[in-house]
Amino acid sequence: MNRKFVLKTRPETLPGPEHFAIVEEALPPLGEGQVRLRLAYAAVSPWQAQRCKDFANYVEPFAIGELISCDMLGQVVESRAAGWAKGDFAMGRLGWQEYADAAPAALTRVDPRLGAETWLTALSSPGLSAWFGFADHARPMPGETCVITSAAGALGSFAVQVAKAGGMRVVGIAGSEAKCRFVAEQLGADACLDHRLPDLEGRLRVAAADGVHVFYDTVGGPAADAVFANMAKYGRIVLVGRSAANISADPGADFANMRMVWARECTVETFSMYSLLPERRAEGRKRMAALVQSGRVVPQVSMVDGFENTPQALHDVLAGRMLGKALVRYWQPDGIHS
Ligand SMILES: NC(=O)c1ccc[n+]([C@@H]2O[C@H](COP(=O)([O-])OP(=O)(O)OC[C@H]3O[C@@H](n4cnc5c(N)ncnc54)[C@H](OP(=O)(O)O)[C@@H]3O)[C@@H](O)[C@H]2O)c1
Repeated sequence: MNRKFVLKTRPETLPGPEHFAIVEEALPPLGEGQVRLRLAYAAVSPWQAQRCKDFANYVEPFAIGELISCDMLGQVVESRAAGWAKGDFAMGRLGWQEYADAAPAALTRVDPRLGAETWLTALSSPGLSAWFGFADHARPMPGETCVITSAAGALGSFAVQVAKAGGMRVVGIAGSEAKCRFVAEQLGADACLDHRLPDLEGRLRVAAADGVHVFYDTVGGPAADAVFANMAKYGRIVLVGRSAANISADPGADFANMRMVWARECTVETFSMYSLLPERRAEGRKRMAALVQSGRVVPQVSMVDGFENTPQALHDVLAGRMLGKALVRYWQPDGIHS
């Protein structure tokens, strides 16, 4: 039997367990050319919440009854595909479920020596978005100041470490005093500001006294406006995500102080790591693996145990309760460490 989470109803605000249903179904015989994985680790990401809503966004909405898709890592329990054997590890966008059948073309083979957390963070969307955001767009210069929103989050925690590895002075922005401590003490940022306290714009003027040369923004909304007001002349702004606005159908949720962006002659670039060609992703994985192996980048994970707890973990990410990347462990296979 397989169990999977599907969308039950659309949330008005944040999704929680009540918006998802568990569907049980018998596993069909495995198709020729496919492998069957028992899924061990699930990634939990804000874009899944965006897909629970039904309005134009950068991702298509889930249909009611549809499997909740996300990156998963699992172990092969049966193979009818050449080159794949029982016991191999792989990851792919296989969805919140206990088993998945897939063709090898839809999978990335996992070297278990690197561990599950590294594969689902540094070598997946969070790490690659940080790597390509800086390598292709922000182009860090030693000594420049970089501001990063949601600096304690999945992408943000890698962005802080990648920017530091590039020699930048890093100012994080995060949603609590505890998160700010984590960003400065664990991730190595030079400063971190709590966006829930008053006058973020004024505090940034002090923390980034020479202006913000690079703004790596995953959030948008009022925090981004406070950074726009502090950009240095010819600053580079990389729009990576819109967490403050993407779960609202109201386009005004992401108001932006474009006047200062224009006045300081800043460049604004956007990108999606999902548009990268496979060979570029492979190159990014190599770079991030090297940073992890050298200890210059340390994956930060909030681990939750139990298949049933997956929707609550998504709620907690959006409610700002997680540090780093949230993963849910369904079971612990031998042969790979977390
Ligand atoms: N361009 C790409 O290739 C790419 C790839 C992956 C993800 N993304 C996007 O990047 C963004 C971040 O993803 P992630 O997985 O790293 O999530 P995340 O930052 O770990 O989690 C979301 C965080 O955003 C902050 N937040 C949420 N609502 C907010 C609001 N209204 N105002 C201020 N802060 C708010 C909260 O942190 P605080 O408590 O610190 O405020 C929350 O913990 C998402 O929008 C995602 O869609 C883009």
